[in-house]
Amino acid sequence: MKKLFIIALIALTPLMAQVKGKIEVPYIAFPIKMGKGFDAVQANCLMCHSFGYIINQGRQSRKFWRGKIEKMIVHFKAPISDKDAKIIEDYLTEHYGNGK
Ligand code: HEC
Repeated sequence: MKKLFIIALIALTPLMAQVKGKIEVPYIAFPIKMGKGFDAVQANCLMCHSFGYIINQGRQSRKFWRGKIEKMIVHFKAPISDKDAKIIEDYLTEHYGNGK
């Protein structure tokens, strides 16, 4: 019983950590470019993570974006249809492309 109590105490200790002063969580707004195909991005990409992951990559080539979409589908099991994948690829290439 005593052991259990100690384990519980250790597990809960982080919750008891005290912080002096006010903490402000920065609010980061990700500017999203609207345009043709954005619906598909919203429906297929934002279910798992924010748009930040996408625009933090900076401007990239079509090949890069195709690879990322593929990665999401293959490795992370994103349920994205071929049709939507193409629409998203076009959208990303147009708005976040580097001309390559
Ligand atoms: C099934 C969930 C899921 C969906 C849907 C999804 N992603 Fe991801 N994405 C992830 C995970 C998991 C990571 C990696 C997170 C990490 O490493 O912290 C990630 C990371 C990323 C990254 C960061 C770079 C990298 O290679 O890890 C980009 C860019 C990205 N996703 C783009 C997209 C795009 C574009 C779509 C829509 C076509 C999409 N994601 C849809 C799960 C998803």
